[in-house]
Amino acid sequence: MKVAIIGAGNVGAMVASRVVDSGLADVALIDIAPGLAKGKALDISDSRPITGSSSKIEGSEDLKDMRGAGIVVVTAGLARKPGMSRDDLIRKNSEIIKDVSLNIKKHASLAIVIIVTNPLDAMSYLTMKTAAFKPERVIGMAGVLDSARFINMVSSGSARMQSDRIFMMGSHGDTMVAINRSVDLDDKTFKEASEKARNRGAEIVGHLKTGSAYFAPSAAVFSMLRAILKDENRTVCCSAYLDGEYGEKDVYIGVPVTLGSSGVIKIIEIELTQQEKKAFKKSVRQIRDTIAKL
Ligand code: LAC
Repeated sequence: MKVAIIGAGNVGAMVASRVVDSGLADVALIDIAPGLAKGKALDISDSRPITGSSSKIEGSEDLKDMRGAGIVVVTAGLARKPGMSRDDLIRKNSEIIKDVSLNIKKHASLAIVIIVTNPLDAMSYLTMKTAAFKPERVIGMAGVLDSARFINMVSSGSARMQSDRIFMMGSHGDTMVAINRSVDLDDKTFKEASEKARNRGAEIVGHLKTGSAYFAPSAAVFSMLRAILKDENRTVCCSAYLDGEYGEKDVYIGVPVTLGSSGVIKIIEIELTQQEKKAFKKSVRQIRDTIAKL
């Protein structure tokens, strides 16, 4: 199986490295910046005698090279600078996403697409509409990352993902909705940790100054790739298209979904408390506002 990764910046290159190192799939790493994908692909390829992986990787500047990919991961676009919100990226990134989506439609019309470009939920929506793909084949990566950050805050790194008990739903933005079904977690810790998790992306941008997070984001993409390629039928939070679920239609937003070989196998509708429902509706409104700007 071949995975095409569009955008060879930090997230794209790190996903490529994780996929090749682990031997999960072959990779086409593509970036329009001259030499960027080629150089990084050669470097990643050189690790194979050390890691023992037999996965192949090719780097190029040509979107046509996504041909034959079963999954296309889209990381292309601008990342935030200090002080920017994810929504501030909409104008430039929507142009890039439109172009990439038309190319996916042309060269990889049967692929499943994972969107990483921000503003995430709106860019997933734009891709689905532009490529005219079935919604189950276009999935946004965010819930896995936001949930991991949240769990990391409450467990000081010791817990593995307890995605069925503590997780993040809603937008990949200021209105993300923290869910706690864990009896071990008191209200105060929950509130503090969810607030920190909500701001984690901006906190990292503030330190890096010239880029945004990529280690945990690439780990999140990798886990989604594995769930799809190995048909794990695993439930994780992702940005998915709602068609009546949670009382909403025609919007992409973070919800628990079952991922398998055909993409989103099922959207899981969990029972929300009144407070969570209110927060989720607010998040839907925020995403709809962003989509309206497209
Ligand atoms: C972040 C970017 C990936 O949350 O949106 O770090």
